[in-house]
Amino acid sequence: MFNIHDLTNRVTVNISDVRDPHAMASLVRERAFLFNLAGQTSHLDSMTDPLTDLNINTAAQLHILEACRLHNPKVKIIFASTRQLYGRPHYLPVDEKHPINPIDVNGINKLAGEYYHLLYHQVYKIRACALRLTNTYGPGMRVKDARQTFLGIWIRNLIEGKPIEVFGSGRQRRDFNFVDDVVEAMLLAAVNPASDGEVFNLGSTEHLSLQDVASLLVRLQPGTHYELVPFPADREAIDIGDYYSDFTKIRSALSWCPQVTLREGLIKTLEYYRQHHAHYWP
Ligand SMILES: NC(=O)c1ccc[n+]([C@@H]2O[C@H](COP(=O)([O-])OP(=O)(O)OC[C@H]3O[C@@H](n4cnc5c(N)ncnc54)[C@H](O)[C@@H]3O)[C@@H](O)[C@H]2O)c1
Repeated sequence: MFNIHDLTNRVTVNISDVRDPHAMASLVRERAFLFNLAGQTSHLDSMTDPLTDLNINTAAQLHILEACRLHNPKVKIIFASTRQLYGRPHYLPVDEKHPINPIDVNGINKLAGEYYHLLYHQVYKIRACALRLTNTYGPGMRVKDARQTFLGIWIRNLIEGKPIEVFGSGRQRRDFNFVDDVVEAMLLAAVNPASDGEVFNLGSTEHLSLQDVASLLVRLQPGTHYELVPFPADREAIDIGDYYSDFTKIRSALSWCPQVTLREGLIKTLEYYRQHHAHYWP
């Protein structure tokens, strides 16, 4: 709730479960836009508890879409999809034509959730689109554990003065988007009809190895260090290796281009958690 502490007099908060069709039916009415971000986001949890992931990331998406079809067919939906559905890249950078080959339960369920949105556009003309997010980070992200992304637990450990762990060789390359750039992409997709029925990769022109990201972070938080540790078997089995996106499509169609460098974004993120960590972990 602290993520919205400075907005509370401008928003109405309704805490519901997306698996509740009655709640969805009432919440989608009379809305112009639906930013559909709620999800089970842990890849590891999707392997140990696949049915919860299925119910949230797939079945509940049908509840939401049915609610829109029946109660608000004019709504514009922006669905937060994921680069995970490409699996291990066959080529880099990965564009939207890359084969789909998810390598974990979460990737399969998110793919189905995304495809339902596209289907409801094709069949019912619901104005849905999907953005395939890559590693997104910034103030407000989950940092108390490693369930959302490795960057979360790294940031917590850095603030606590603990070493951060880089799995394997640390040479896997990735791209990252600061949260403000992702929000901008969602707003551009919301207001531009060119996005209707489309999927877009988000991404960045900066591609860094995990070891380079760790080095950057320890320079930004003096007195800390990182360690290379063996890849835990359960994580290695669902790791996608090198990944970075080609985001030409959204740049051409919606004029989106990320503005915040990784260094700037990490400085802002570390500063945020230095100040506010008490609200994010005990
Ligand atoms: N952060 C990333 O790097 C990234 C990358 C790819 C895709 N995504 C997608 O973006 C979306 C947002 O992710 P995030 O990074 O903000 O993750 P997050 O875990 O911080 O946020 C997910 C939110 O969904 C809510 N939620 C979970 N189950 C719910 C349920 N049954 N009913 C209602 N709400 C529920 C959680 O409470 C949480 O607030 C997700 O759909 C995720 O798959 C994120």
